[in-house]
Amino acid sequence: MTRQRTPHLVVLTGAGISAESGLKTFRASDGLWEEHRVEDVATPEAWVRDPGLVLRFYNQRRAQVRRARPNAAHKALAELERDGFRVSIITQNIDDLHERAGSRDVLHLHGEILMARSTVDPRMCYPVHRGDIVLGDVCDKGSQLRPDVVWFGEAVPRYGDACEIVEQADLLLVVGTSLAVMPAGALLRQVPMDVDVILVDPDAERLAPPGVAKIGQPAGEGVPELVRHWQRQGRLW
Ligand code: APR
Repeated sequence: MTRQRTPHLVVLTGAGISAESGLKTFRASDGLWEEHRVEDVATPEAWVRDPGLVLRFYNQRRAQVRRARPNAAHKALAELERDGFRVSIITQNIDDLHERAGSRDVLHLHGEILMARSTVDPRMCYPVHRGDIVLGDVCDKGSQLRPDVVWFGEAVPRYGDACEIVEQADLLLVVGTSLAVMPAGALLRQVPMDVDVILVDPDAERLAPPGVAKIGQPAGEGVPELVRHWQRQGRLW
């Protein structure tokens, strides 16, 4: 079958793509959760028990995100899109580094740390332009605001949208994710049979499921190299 439309590159990213921007990954030995137990800061139960601690934890992380800058991997993906390639990014990251690099089609599977949302109505979302979210910050219905992120034990509302995007991929590039957290890790199962999957991760050899091409490099090296290759040949394969 000849494909007439512009081939569609779908990119699934995880914490590893932002590691070279100075944001810690989750499951590394010095990972973020080591300073706090996940249950204490990133679950609905933690929010009920100590919302002040949860807000402080995310305020600290928001400050780190604001200080961070997009790295060569974020920039290369944005450049590919600017060059006319069709690029959709599905990220598990709550930072905005893909957008700041210039990518325009970004789905945040686990939410966005720069957004706050109502605890009574998830549709009521507000940008956190500067400063923090603190106890007493309320939505238009008068309810406390929380970070617009998906906590452990919560549903992933954008998972269906992510599946639809992956189903339309002509090539899937996976960058910097341990694929350990569900349902994000299961997205690879939605890829059509004839579509190639490439994993860029220093730990690719261990992590890649069968049939996935492995590039065992940091994102800041492996992604720009791939992008340069696609740019030189003017197509994805
Ligand atoms: N370049 C690319 N990958 C890297 C780099 C780098 N420079 N440094 C580390 N990595 C890889 C690690 O080898 C690991 O496979 O990044 C991956 C990070 O994995 P995790 O820490 O498990 O992060 P992620 O897969 O994004 O976690 C998924 O879990 O805690 C939740 O909601 C949180 O979105 C997060 C989800």
